[in-house]
Amino acid sequence: MSEKAIVIEAPGGPEQLKLVDVEVGAPGPGEVRIRHEACGLNYIDVYHRNGSYPLPLPARLGMEGAGIVEAVGEGVSHLKPGDRAAYASQPPGAYATARVMPARCVLKLPDAIAMDTAAAMMLKGLTVQYLLRRTLPQEGLNPGDFVVFHAAAGGVGLIACQWAKALGLQLIGTAGSDEKCQLALDHGAVHAINYRRDSDFAARVRDITGGRGVKVVYDSVGADTWEGSLNCLAPFGLMVSFGGASGPVPPVNIGTLAAKGSIYVTRPTLFTHIATREVTQAMGDDLFDMVATGRVSIRIDKRYALADAAQAHRDLEARQLVGSAVLLP
Ligand SMILES: NC(=O)c1ccc[n+]([C@@H]2O[C@H](COP(=O)([O-])OP(=O)(O)OC[C@H]3O[C@@H](n4cnc5c(N)ncnc54)[C@H](OP(=O)(O)O)[C@@H]3O)[C@@H](O)[C@H]2O)c1
Repeated sequence: MSEKAIVIEAPGGPEQLKLVDVEVGAPGPGEVRIRHEACGLNYIDVYHRNGSYPLPLPARLGMEGAGIVEAVGEGVSHLKPGDRAAYASQPPGAYATARVMPARCVLKLPDAIAMDTAAAMMLKGLTVQYLLRRTLPQEGLNPGDFVVFHAAAGGVGLIACQWAKALGLQLIGTAGSDEKCQLALDHGAVHAINYRRDSDFAARVRDITGGRGVKVVYDSVGADTWEGSLNCLAPFGLMVSFGGASGPVPPVNIGTLAAKGSIYVTRPTLFTHIATREVTQAMGDDLFDMVATGRVSIRIDKRYALADAAQAHRDLEARQLVGSAVLLP
């Protein structure tokens, strides 16, 4: 049976996203066939589309989805046909009505979590899980500690605001408008800085922390915020550079890290963390628990038809979205 998927023939703008007919076969060993009910929209999809993260062409897009398992291949024991399931996973291909993919990162979805919620939270929520729980400064993070989280009203950002609050952390969020700042505060940030108006956000962070600075900066904005982020850190602080929505971080003079107070820098990716099924399940269980108990709620700001993926990309890149968005096949 013919299915639909979004593909790109060449890297470029949103106009490269084309809905085409594709064949989806039976799952091989270690694979699962899943029929999507919703797919997540993520900034990494933009990097894949525009060639910042090159893919072999032609390429499918999308790293996050939820749906019903239709078939499992040999050796897959944690899923069976008919299961509700959700994932964040390589390789791209979630922008589709159905797909065959490695079963390793596909998790059985608790009944308490709706399909569209799952599609909106797997990649973003697992990212927040590893950032706040597994990417820590040398003395760890304790209740009361300050952290900075950029783009705090975005998909990853609104989850981070709530999760940080649940951990007792004082999250200082940044965002690109006063409305977005208010949204971050409503979701648990203790302070919010509009970094398009207050470009010296580091000075504000110093004021808020009595001059001390913060233990960790979680920075997915990249080029525009790198320098200011370093200036937010307390001695021995940790700079977590996990994305580049404004462009890649420029080459770094390593001596800067000494001058800023013996600081640490890491550039993590979710896919290192979810390299094994066991760790993926443990991280997923943590996320499911946070959502099922209401400590983290997933805001779906926009729902697009799969065929309108190009418009979804335009809106995401124009900074018009808050929270998560999903594509509906
Ligand atoms: N390394 C990892 O494991 C990992 C995993 C997931 C996500 N990420 C990264 O985390 C970030 C957030 O992902 P997301 O999917 O939740 O996206 P998002 O935060 O919903 O959207 C990106 C946000 O970045 C901000 N931004 C700042 N400068 C920008 C610019 N020049 N152009 C476009 N946006 C700009 C915008 O918020 P304001 O208007 O408020 O500034 C925008 O809403 C992305 O950079 C993504 O690549 C990394």
